Amino acid sequence: MVTRRTLLTGLAAGALTGFLPQRLGQAAAATDPRAPVQPLALTPRISPRTLLGPGTQAQDLYLFNDTIFPIVRARRGTRLKVAVDNRLPVGTTVHWHGIRLPNPQDGVPGLTQDLIPANGGQFTYEVPLPDAGTYFFHPHCDETGQVGRGLAGVLIVEDEEKLPFQAEHVLVIKDWRLAPDGSFLPFLTEEGASKAGTFGTVRGVNGVGPAMLSAPAHADLRLRILNLDSTRTVQVGTGEAEGYIIAYDGHAVPPLDFETCDLGSSQRLDLHVRMPAEGQSVSIYDYRTGGDPFLLARIEATASNFRKRPFKPIALPPPNVPKADLRKAERFSLSLQQATDDAATVLDGLPPDDPLAKALVDQYCTGPRTFWAISQNSWPTGGTKPMPPPLLRLVAGRSYVISLTNPTQHLHPIHLHGHVFDVISASKSKRPRHYADTVLLAVRETAEIAFVAAPGNWVLHCHILDHMETGMMGYVSIA
Ligand code: C2O
Ligand code: CU
Repeated sequence: MVTRRTLLTGLAAGALTGFLPQRLGQAAAATDPRAPVQPLALTPRISPRTLLGPGTQAQDLYLFNDTIFPIVRARRGTRLKVAVDNRLPVGTTVHWHGIRLPNPQDGVPGLTQDLIPANGGQFTYEVPLPDAGTYFFHPHCDETGQVGRGLAGVLIVEDEEKLPFQAEHVLVIKDWRLAPDGSFLPFLTEEGASKAGTFGTVRGVNGVGPAMLSAPAHADLRLRILNLDSTRTVQVGTGEAEGYIIAYDGHAVPPLDFETCDLGSSQRLDLHVRMPAEGQSVSIYDYRTGGDPFLLARIEATASNFRKRPFKPIALPPPNVPKADLRKAERFSLSLQQATDDAATVLDGLPPDDPLAKALVDQYCTGPRTFWAISQNSWPTGGTKPMPPPLLRLVAGRSYVISLTNPTQHLHPIHLHGHVFDVISASKSKRPRHYADTVLLAVRETAEIAFVAAPGNWVLHCHILDHMETGMMGYVSIA
């Protein structure tokens, strides 16, 4: 059993490098109320940091436990009991992205819980961990602002089975909206929100700039790559090094040789890479730059006793998620849209920087304007409209196929809460059929997702955070 101390020590250390930990405990059934419980204390609070270095301004970051992207590791089949102590000056919640959990633990204010109040509000989440894989957690209120200031953490659910990797690294891709003097720029601009999204100005992996790491020569290295940027889609490649995709969004696929892989906001990729001889290095790039590839990480090979040997990719245990019955599944379609003019009104005619407008926006965790919709419904912005009806009403336990179409001029990574779905088709993507919690829709792409409905009200939204905050969110109601 992992103890509170080992978990907290892992957090405090940041644990961004780190080899596979010891076996943590016996596996238990996913929903077993007797599953071993691991306590975790999460304190979101202001942590001033000088991100651009000496001579520039320190800014108030919002961090969990004073750590930029802390890593929580737990064993599949256990449950996390997370005591959140909100020390931020704003209300917040925690959403467990990609985890199949009971609806009241999902962290969506207004739908599954109230905001955890500012300055000392508390809330305890009970998070079952039915699936191994690479996940993350983040607030679900004013996400452009709170995630923009750094509030996010990595959740790694270990397989029960010990896998033969000899090294592991986590790469969290997230840009920062900084002026040259180090101060934060507005996290959401109308220009950005109404088009491809508001991009960061300073790129970063595990902080600012590329991640510089090391691993033993000739080791089998597992890379867990998370795109936690608010906006940017990256195209990940391993340059000269040979690498295999072993999981999408945490869910295993048979090892897949690849050139590059698109990763939209919130999507994850697990790779198996073989380290070269001592003194050489592996470089991971983003090729979707419109120019030279951007270096995401360089991993230097250090002295080791591992021998050079043929590269055989390691297959992860296959996913064990409820399988949709495609013959019986009922079908629906949803369309991603630009909002109609009538919905695109400024909050009560107030400019978005008006104090009253700001207060309303804060209270309802939404953006100031509406630019986007899903099948004619826009998530209410600024609290000026009531909660819309659900996009779909489904029956718990039944199988469904939802076809998502993107007739817009922009990419949209679409995420459904509380479910792991089978991406059964996608008209443009080069990915093989796989399980996921987010599907990236290219311009004029249609994709079909299939899943077994779980009870609750679950949001479905674009994970480009300023699209989500300006209307591209709705929910499915499952009873
Ligand atoms: Cu990671 Cu509702 O999102
Ligand atoms: Cu979008």
